[in-house]
Amino acid sequence: MKTSKDEEKPKYLTIESIPGIGPVTARKLRELGFNTIESLAMATVRELEQAGIKDKRAFEIINAARSSISLSFVRADELLKMRRNILRLTTGSRKLDELLGGGIETQTITEFYGEYGSGKSQIAHQLCVNVQLPPERGGLGGGALYIDTENTFRAERIVQMAKHLELDPEEVLKNIILAEAYTSDHQMFLLENSDKIIKENNIRLIVIDSLTAHFRSEYLGRESLAARQQKLNKHMHKLIKLARAFNAAAVVTNQVMSSPDVFFGESIRPIGGHIVAHTSHTRIFLRKARKGPVRVARLVSSPYLPEGEQLFKITENGIEDVEEEG
Ligand code: GTP
Ligand code: MG
Repeated sequence: MKTSKDEEKPKYLTIESIPGIGPVTARKLRELGFNTIESLAMATVRELEQAGIKDKRAFEIINAARSSISLSFVRADELLKMRRNILRLTTGSRKLDELLGGGIETQTITEFYGEYGSGKSQIAHQLCVNVQLPPERGGLGGGALYIDTENTFRAERIVQMAKHLELDPEEVLKNIILAEAYTSDHQMFLLENSDKIIKENNIRLIVIDSLTAHFRSEYLGRESLAARQQKLNKHMHKLIKLARAFNAAAVVTNQVMSSPDVFFGESIRPIGGHIVAHTSHTRIFLRKARKGPVRVARLVSSPYLPEGEQLFKITENGIEDVEEEG
C-alpha cells in the first residue's frame, strides 16, 4: 500500500488546476512566462502581482505550486535534499571534469569566459550532445536548449560530435532546441518564456552563448551601465530559477576585455562586472596554449572547489583529453 507523505500532497498538472487561478489569471500568468507549475514554484510574490494577483493570494499560489512539486526553500533539510539531487554532466574531457569536481553541475550557473577562439562555443556544442547520453555515460538523459546570440550554432558540428559518441545524429539534433536572440531584450524574452519548452522537451541543459554580447553592444557608456547591470541580473536570476526548477545545467559564455592594471600593466577581465561574477556559481577561464588544438581551462571561482588548471583539446571529435606522454 502506498502511504508515502509525498503522495498525499495535491499534484497539479496545469496552472489552472491550482486553487485561486481562474482562466483570466491563467492567461495573464502565461503572458508573463509562467506556463508551468515549476516556474510558478520559483516565482516571487512581486512577480505575480504583475498579473494582478494580490500578495496573499500570490503567496498561496506559490506555496501550492511548491508543495505540488515537493519543493521548499524554507527548511534547511529541504535545501540539503535539493543539493543531493544535483547531477553532473561530462564535458567530454576527464581532466576538465576533474577540475569541475566531476562535471558541470545542475541547478547552478557555470560560466566559460575567454577570448576569441578559446573554445567556449565548442564546449557549449559538446555539452548539447553529452547531455543526451544516459547517466552511466556522464549525461543527463535529456535535451538541450541553446540560446544563440551570435549565430554561432552549427548543426554539422553536432553531427560530427554525435557520430563520435555513436549516437544517431538525427536524434541528437532533434533534442536540441535552438533559439536565436536578436537583441538583449529578445534574449531575455526567450528565456522568460522557455519553461513550457523545457518541460515538454525534457531539457536538462540550458546554454546562453553569449550571455553578454548583446548587452555589451547595446548599452554603451557609463550612463547606461546601471540599466545594463539590472537587466543582466534579472536575466541570470531567471536562469538560476529554471535550472533549479528542472534540475538542469545552465551554461553561459562570456567574452573578455583587457583593461589597464596598476600592477601588471594590463589584465584580462570577463565582461559583466560584479553581477555576472556573483551570479555565476562556477567560472572557468579558457585560453589557447600557444598554437594548435590545446586549450587551458582555469577554474577561477567555485563555491567549494579549489582553483586549478587543466588542459583539454578541440578535435574533429569534439572536446577531448590531451593524451598523456609515456
Ligand atoms: P568567440 O565566440 O569568437 O569568442 O570564440 P569561442 O571561444 O566561442 O571559440 P570557439 O568555441 O568557436 O572555438 C573555435 C575554435 O575551435 C577554432 O579556432 C578551432 O580551433 C576549433 N574548432 C572549431 N570547430 C572545429 C572542428 O570542426 N574541428 C576541429 N578540429 N576544431 C574545431
Ligand atoms: Mg563563441
